[in-house]
Amino acid sequence: MNHPTMQGTAPVNAPAWVKHPKLVAWVAEIAALTKPDHIYWCDGSQEEYERLCEQMVAAGTMKRLNPAKRKNSFLALSDPSDVARVEDRTFICSEKQEDAGPTNNWTAPAEMRQTLNGLFEGCMRGRTLYVVPFSMGPLGSPIAHIGVELSDSPYVAVNMRLMTRMGRAVYDVLGTNGEFVPCVHTVGKPLAAGEQDVAWPCNPTKYIVHFPETREIWSFGSGYGGNALLGKKCFALRIASTMGRDEGWLAEHMLILGVTSPEGKKYHVAAAFPSACGKTNFAMLIPPKGFEGWRVTTIGDDIAWIKPGQDGRLYAINPEAGYFGVAPGTSEKTNFNAMATLKENVIFTNVALTDDGDVWWEGMTKEAPAHLVDWQGKDWTPEIARATGAKAAHPNARFTAPASQCPSIDQNWDNPAGVPIDAFIFGGRRSTTVPLVTEARNWTEGVYMAATMGSETTAAAAGQQGVVRRDPFAMLPFCGYNMSDYFGHWLQLGQKLEAAGAKLPKIYCVNWFRKDADGNFVWPGFGENMRVLSWMIDRVEGKGQGAEHVFGTTPRYEDLNWNGLDFTPAQFTQVTSIDRDAWQQELALHDELFSKLRQHLPQALVETRAALGKRLEG
Ligand code: GTP
Ligand code: SPV
Ligand code: MN
Repeated sequence: MNHPTMQGTAPVNAPAWVKHPKLVAWVAEIAALTKPDHIYWCDGSQEEYERLCEQMVAAGTMKRLNPAKRKNSFLALSDPSDVARVEDRTFICSEKQEDAGPTNNWTAPAEMRQTLNGLFEGCMRGRTLYVVPFSMGPLGSPIAHIGVELSDSPYVAVNMRLMTRMGRAVYDVLGTNGEFVPCVHTVGKPLAAGEQDVAWPCNPTKYIVHFPETREIWSFGSGYGGNALLGKKCFALRIASTMGRDEGWLAEHMLILGVTSPEGKKYHVAAAFPSACGKTNFAMLIPPKGFEGWRVTTIGDDIAWIKPGQDGRLYAINPEAGYFGVAPGTSEKTNFNAMATLKENVIFTNVALTDDGDVWWEGMTKEAPAHLVDWQGKDWTPEIARATGAKAAHPNARFTAPASQCPSIDQNWDNPAGVPIDAFIFGGRRSTTVPLVTEARNWTEGVYMAATMGSETTAAAAGQQGVVRRDPFAMLPFCGYNMSDYFGHWLQLGQKLEAAGAKLPKIYCVNWFRKDADGNFVWPGFGENMRVLSWMIDRVEGKGQGAEHVFGTTPRYEDLNWNGLDFTPAQFTQVTSIDRDAWQQELALHDELFSKLRQHLPQALVETRAALGKRLEG
């Protein structure tokens, strides 16, 4: 970047354990540009974590929760304007626009660098620059990749410690010239001399920028979630997906779970649902009554890195070390394992505070407490909520918790070799049209299903909610390159594995969210999703029965295990029926997507679309 060559005022003072001259020079360069008052090198220790949290409590950014209720846990309330990912401010700045493709915002790299130079100049004045070294994936594993985030947000530093393997050991892996992805982040609110800071500094101008060719990330103006914790969506999905394209692997917005049958046979499933559409819940599923002897274990809840193994199977790892999960809707009933994970050592963001210093959110308990302080710091009562509709917690309120605290954690969750995938699931949030579950007849038709998936938008991203949009592979906001090339990459990978004689994972499409005329979910969901999962496992074993229709194979009522659940054939019809007119309209939306993506769109998908249309008419 072009920037003044003079040093920032703060001395770089790299500790002796940082032995990477290029990294130190880069920190000096960014400090010269951003001009922080101090530079602090994170070591990742517990002592450091506690010190930074204490400091944020003193600054008013976080509150310590009642230790008798939530040990070593904190509540942060963000600025009301900074509550979710900002997709319209997210950019993929590849050299060629065609490599970003029509689904990404693009600006020429040189132009974007100029814009960023202006924005980052002096942006950390009055603040501390935290140097945050992290590994995505187990430290030193051949599948892991390292990043270093420079951020002026202590909230980012402590969240990164929960979400990644963060700290001094990363420098041992990096050595004197190891590779890392440079990530620069600022809340974009420099402080003038003597200026009082606010509890949640941010800037109305936001830029979340990726340079895929040079593998760099620059984030300006937000302190929230995926905008600011750059190891997650920015690195582990947008940058990693381009690495995967170049190197023959996949970086996906998928949970990974293990499922063990009563006979003791273990399977692994990876599932892509868009943001706030059920990944964390599915990953931590507890089999319901009627499924005694089955066990589900959690490998990851949001991101999967998937690589072909020597044996031609696909092996998945979770590059993260924590959960940044949706709080609203999480309860002992719907997600017992998540609630157990949240007992201590948690950072909550934008949930409500109870009078006894604990947290609450919509859906946590059937009855709301009589009084709360809501996520905006205002008094909240059930009466106020009824009168004004005010939510106690923001709909995108989140918890950050260590994965190791999850009772359903899989014994292989941090195995560097990963786990072999038996099935892929793709699912959207659709109140109509899309049936409960469909098995693709082959890899290509599965890729077509995933590519054309639609879902109603949620509070995880800024903007209108509940609008159906195409969200291919649940990767619309996260694919770091041309979406059509991404489809091609999936098709090619399947071909390559099949040519090598491998048995490909089966591909399923699910929808837990069909609603009745009164707007209620018909399918009970959560633990009951086990009924669908076990049907899939039966199919993987070549045992499960089903009926073939125009889209693929679905179970008939009698093909699912209903032990322990009262769900009538009429209700089953409500969640599985296929309405021809609705599907004609759906196919028109597929066409709209394909027309937008026509450049580079694989011919196999065009042919699949044509064949589907014929079957639907016939
Ligand atoms: P991100 O962290 O944004 O990627 O979200 P996610 O995909 O992990 O979604 P999560 O599991 O956190 O669920 C989001 C919301 O959907 C929560 O309010 C859940 O309670 C709700 N939800 C999850 N699974 C189900 C289900 O099977 N049925 C219904 N009706 N709601 C569900
Ligand atoms: C998502 O939106 O898919 C999330 C939350 O997992 S964030 O980290 O903000 O992207
Ligand atoms: Mn997610």
